[in-house]
Amino acid sequence: MAYPVTVVGVGPGSREYLLPVAEEAVLQSDVLVGGARALELFAHLGKQCYQIDRHLDAALDFIERVREKQRVAVLLSGDPGYFSLLPRLRARLGEKNLIVIPGISSLQLACARLGLNWEDFLHVSLHGRGLDQLEKVGDCPKVAVLTEKRFPPSAVCRFFLEKGSDFQKVWILTDLGLPGEQVTSTTLEEGAWVEGRANSIVILVKDCEERRGLGRERLDDQDDCWHGESSQKNSQMGKTECHEVVTPGLPDDLFLRGNVAMSKEEVRALVLCKARLRKGMAVYEIGAGSGSWTVEVARLIKPGQVYAFEKDPEALALARANLKHFQLTNVVLVEGEAPEACEGFPPGDCVLIGGSGGRLEEILRAAKDWLRPGGRLVITAVTPETFSTAWQLLQDEAWEERDAVLLQLARVQRKGRVNCWQGENPVFILSASRRWTTG
Ligand SMILES: C[S@@+](CC[C@H](N)C(=O)[O-])C[C@H]1O[C@@H](n2cnc3c(N)ncnc32)[C@H](O)[C@@H]1O
Repeated sequence: MAYPVTVVGVGPGSREYLLPVAEEAVLQSDVLVGGARALELFAHLGKQCYQIDRHLDAALDFIERVREKQRVAVLLSGDPGYFSLLPRLRARLGEKNLIVIPGISSLQLACARLGLNWEDFLHVSLHGRGLDQLEKVGDCPKVAVLTEKRFPPSAVCRFFLEKGSDFQKVWILTDLGLPGEQVTSTTLEEGAWVEGRANSIVILVKDCEERRGLGRERLDDQDDCWHGESSQKNSQMGKTECHEVVTPGLPDDLFLRGNVAMSKEEVRALVLCKARLRKGMAVYEIGAGSGSWTVEVARLIKPGQVYAFEKDPEALALARANLKHFQLTNVVLVEGEAPEACEGFPPGDCVLIGGSGGRLEEILRAAKDWLRPGGRLVITAVTPETFSTAWQLLQDEAWEERDAVLLQLARVQRKGRVNCWQGENPVFILSASRRWTTG
């Protein structure tokens, strides 16, 4: 007659969250089966161990064989009833051959940290599954997602961003109950840029739920937990102010940042000056990058339309996040390379070129057709070569009111006990108008 198998929930993996009844069950067993961290918890007992890896069937075979003669405890992280091996054990051994000892799940710990109740959450695990699991979330206002290396918290935020979901509150809780635990209050836009943190639970909540009693004060307290680059600085400024500043050349710190080049605020201000924007215009932007020009232009020309083109998917995602951050809807963001990607859009009043990837000649030739007579063209060039090419191309008779300025910026910077001038890379800003006569 075989022994029943004890399935033990060991919580997050630290001794302080281990239930005494779980410890006792382990003490009474002869053989321990579990993941590396769970086994490590009981290494001091010197029991026979079997470490579970990707080959679950091999582990199940082992358990089935060993239980004939010995008492086996299967150690599962968190609670056995929450996204664990329990269904597989039940299917293989039958429920009458299992004794289940509960543990503290990641969800319980996460909700305890946030002061939330969890009976009405929708639960999703991405472990060993795929992002398509998130499809089942639908309109659910309270969602908990368990993440893994292949699908980290940033992937979850990006998924919901792309779906246009309106989760106002997002928390990323990593390594709960372990040394180095991190709790971050964020947004979908900012969460999409959080790096790593694979061992996380992401909690997403819609605003309506917040008002139904999650506790406003508690939620606001959590805002201080965000360690991301832009928000730290945003908080000095006050979040609402990012929508209130009206002067061109918005502070750099108001934008979400990634590993994508972004024009400095002073450069942006001068580009906008040369563009001579008016409300209601149609503006083409080539090389949207982080979306910092896109945001500024869209705000200034509303209800006009920006057609922004970007070939790099990472930059495109950041530009999209910035547009959402600034709540702008008058932008068509196109993934693709100019000039081909720009075909088929309505005539423009202005063309801004922040990047051309060595294709300036083709882009300028096409821009003559995109622009209405009198329409404005602004190009930034960082290298003398790009400047030289651009200046030469602007000599074409299609252009008039040619202008070029060199922006040589120096910023005051603290160096030890004194302030110094720190020179920024010079930027050429070329501009012209589309001639009225055909050319
Ligand atoms: C210097 S960044 C622009 C920065 C942007 N103005 C900002 O403030 O974030 C230039 C961008 O142009 C894009 N780019 C270069 N050539 C392009 C082309 N032919 N079509 C579309 N995007 C292009 C690059 O991928 C890059 O993201």
